[in-house]
Amino acid sequence: MSYDLVIVGGGKMGSALAEGLLRAAWCPAERLCVVDHTASTRESLHDRLAGVAVLAALELGDVEEGTGALLCVKPDHAESVARMLGALGVRRLLSVVAGLTTARIEAAMGEPVAVVRSMPNTPVLVGRGVSAIAGGAHVTADDLAWAESILGAVGTVVRVSERNLDAVTGLSGPMPAYLYLVVEALIEAGVHQGLPRAVARTLVIDSFDGSAALLKATGASPEELRAQVTSPGGTTAAGLRALENHAVRAAFLDAVAAAAERSRQLGR
Ligand SMILES: NC(=O)c1ccc[n+]([C@@H]2O[C@H](COP(=O)([O-])OP(=O)(O)OC[C@H]3O[C@@H](n4cnc5c(N)ncnc54)[C@H](OP(=O)(O)O)[C@@H]3O)[C@@H](O)[C@H]2O)c1
Repeated sequence: MSYDLVIVGGGKMGSALAEGLLRAAWCPAERLCVVDHTASTRESLHDRLAGVAVLAALELGDVEEGTGALLCVKPDHAESVARMLGALGVRRLLSVVAGLTTARIEAAMGEPVAVVRSMPNTPVLVGRGVSAIAGGAHVTADDLAWAESILGAVGTVVRVSERNLDAVTGLSGPMPAYLYLVVEALIEAGVHQGLPRAVARTLVIDSFDGSAALLKATGASPEELRAQVTSPGGTTAAGLRALENHAVRAAFLDAVAAAAERSRQLGR
């Protein structure tokens, strides 16, 4: 039995992508296959992915000429899985593996293969992620459109050159963590001002969600929207001045630079 797409690694990323592809009816469920070597993971995949083939390993007949592959294992396992996929005849692959270059995947696969590398972030788990994609040496416009259609099932996709993927890895990759830290600190600040924790949590999370929605809906710049809520000499101005005193902007510049540099180091 051959498939349109084989997803190798049925963990957090692989299963979220499989669910998104099923929701989007990207292909019939029986044309999709998820491979994971751990029995307990396969059991839970069976429950979550009705109609999808869940296998412990791929065999020769599972791959035909048009079969694409999605590489969703941890970086340590990725090159050996790529080698196996190359040997089975896979000629088009999308990788979500952080830090692993298209050149290294191409080298592992042996034959000329269209390799698209991506950097998604965790909101793909609820179909609201942002992913950047970049093509390797043998990629055509058709291959990029194919990769975009897969990641588009779990959020927004942007195209960048591969050298910019380290910057993406410093910015949108860890951005959920940056923002959770901000949310956590603001909830704590509300509690310090005497609000019950549950109330502070609702105020912060819904303000966060609503502010992002307002940015998107109006198309206004963040500076414009910030100016709208900052009356001269008012309460917001007092709060913002305190943030500037603590160099919040500089802290974010440093955070993104440090994460991007770490990504460069890991890729070497
Ligand atoms: N999670 C994120 O936020 C995120 C964001 C961007 C990119 N990524 C990238 O996504 C990739 C996957 O991350 P993840 O968080 O989904 O990891 P994960 O939850 O650990 O999933 C990987 C799965 O692949 C299985 N596996 C390992 N080697 C295998 C093999 N040879 N054949 C079949 N299955 C195999 C693992 O099984 P065992 O663990 O039981 O060995 C595990 O179930 C990573 O390379 C990461 O860099 C993740």
